[in-house]
Amino acid sequence: MVNTKVSLCGLELENPVIPASGTFGYGEEFAELYDINILGSFSFKGTTKEPRFGNPTPRIAECSAGMLNSVGLQNPGIEAVCADILPKMKRYFKKPVIANIGGFSLEEYVYCCQKADQADNVGLIELNISCPNVHGGGMSFGTSPASAAEVTAAVKKVCKKPIFVKLSPNVADIAAVAKACEDAGADGIALINTLLGMRIDLRRRTPVLANKKGGFSGDAIFPVALRMVYDVYEAVKIPVIGMGGVSSAEDVIEMMMAGATAVEIGAANLVNPFVCKEILAELPEKAAELGIAKIADIIGVAH
Ligand code: SIN
Repeated sequence: MVNTKVSLCGLELENPVIPASGTFGYGEEFAELYDINILGSFSFKGTTKEPRFGNPTPRIAECSAGMLNSVGLQNPGIEAVCADILPKMKRYFKKPVIANIGGFSLEEYVYCCQKADQADNVGLIELNISCPNVHGGGMSFGTSPASAAEVTAAVKKVCKKPIFVKLSPNVADIAAVAKACEDAGADGIALINTLLGMRIDLRRRTPVLANKKGGFSGDAIFPVALRMVYDVYEAVKIPVIGMGGVSSAEDVIEMMMAGATAVEIGAANLVNPFVCKEILAELPEKAAELGIAKIADIIGVAH
C-alpha cells in the first residue's frame, strides 16, 4: 500500500494531485462527473476584485501538443465567490480548496487575498502574479523580482493562511523571482503559468486570438516546466507546487522528483475531464512499480 500523503505548510493532502486554476472552474461541473473529494485539493478559477467578462473571442487556439488561451481572468468577482460560491462548494467538496487570486494593483491583491483568507474552506492562497492575458496587472507583477516581492510582502501582512506565489515562465530567471518571493515571506511557490505565444490565421492574415497573444499550455510545455521546478527547488527552501503539461501519473512522479511537493494538472482536464481521477487510480501502482512506498520521499530526489 503506497502512502500518497503530502503536506503543504501544514495543509495535509491525501495525495499530491490538484486540478489547476482555470481548468476546473469552482469544481461544480466536475463534481457532477465524479466525486472530486478523491483529489488532494483543487485550485479555483483566478478571481479578481471585480467580476470580469474576460477577453473578446476567439480566445482559444489549438496547437500541436497543446493549446493557447487568452481567457482574461473571467470570473464572478471575490464578493460573489466568498458570499455564494465558497459556502455552496462545501456541499460537493469537503476539503480545503486553493484560492487562486488575480489582480490589477497591489491594493486589489491585498483586498482579495484578505477576503479569501477569511473563508473557512480555503486552505491556502495561490497568489497569481503570472496571468499573461490581462493588461496592467497579472503577469506584470511577476516578471521582476522586485515587484513580485512587493506584492508578496503586502499580501503576507494581511493573511494568516499560506501564500503560494504562482510564477510566470516568461522571465529570464525564474529562480531569482522565486527567491525574491521567499525573502518577502512567501510560504511556497507554484509554477509554471502558461508560456506567452501566438498563432496567425493564414487566410485572414491576422492573429487567431482576438487578444493577439495568449498562454500556451499542454503536453509540449512539460519539459520546460520540469526544468523550472528543478531550478526553483534549488533556489528556495519553501515548498513548491509544480505544474505545466502534466497529464499522467508518471508526469506527477517526475515533477515530484524535480522538487514538487504537490502537482497541478491543467490543460489535460480540458481534453479529458476524468484525467485527474485516472491519474489518481494509476499513481499508487506506478509508485509501487518504481519501489516508492511513500510518495513524499521522492520530493527533490533528482537533485
Ligand atoms: C486567464 O484567465 O486568462 C488564464 C489565467 C492565468 O493564466 O492565470
